Amino acid sequence: MSSSDHALMPSTTPSTHATAPRREPQFIRIAETRREPLHFFLDGEEVAALQGDTLLTAVLMQQRRVRESEFSGAPRAGFCLIGACQDCWMRTEDGKRVRACSTLVTEGMRVLTRRAAAVEAGTANRNGDAR
Ligand code: FES
Repeated sequence: MSSSDHALMPSTTPSTHATAPRREPQFIRIAETRREPLHFFLDGEEVAALQGDTLLTAVLMQQRRVRESEFSGAPRAGFCLIGACQDCWMRTEDGKRVRACSTLVTEGMRVLTRRAAAVEAGTANRNGDAR
């Protein structure tokens, strides 16, 4: 767990959207706000994060999920936060799988949280025709 993870508190904002929780963050940053900003793309939309954020932190600062379960389609937001449970796998737009809790977000990174888009990107990556 990085030191930035300690600066986050779970949001108490209740989710009102079962399938589209965007803009209801899971985490609220309460400390370490002076790190350099960066931008990345979350489901095609440019959003902000701070240098040193894990991808999991960066995504959950924006919404309440990092992916949808491949079995049930239910929203998932990671569980262990230390790289052990496999609950935070995400796909980049070019189809690569990344573990959100142990991957630092980088400037211009493009990630997907919607299952259909992630499956399409993964298939394209395996077929060698990724963007
Ligand atoms: S949250 Fe458990 S592996 Fe990432």
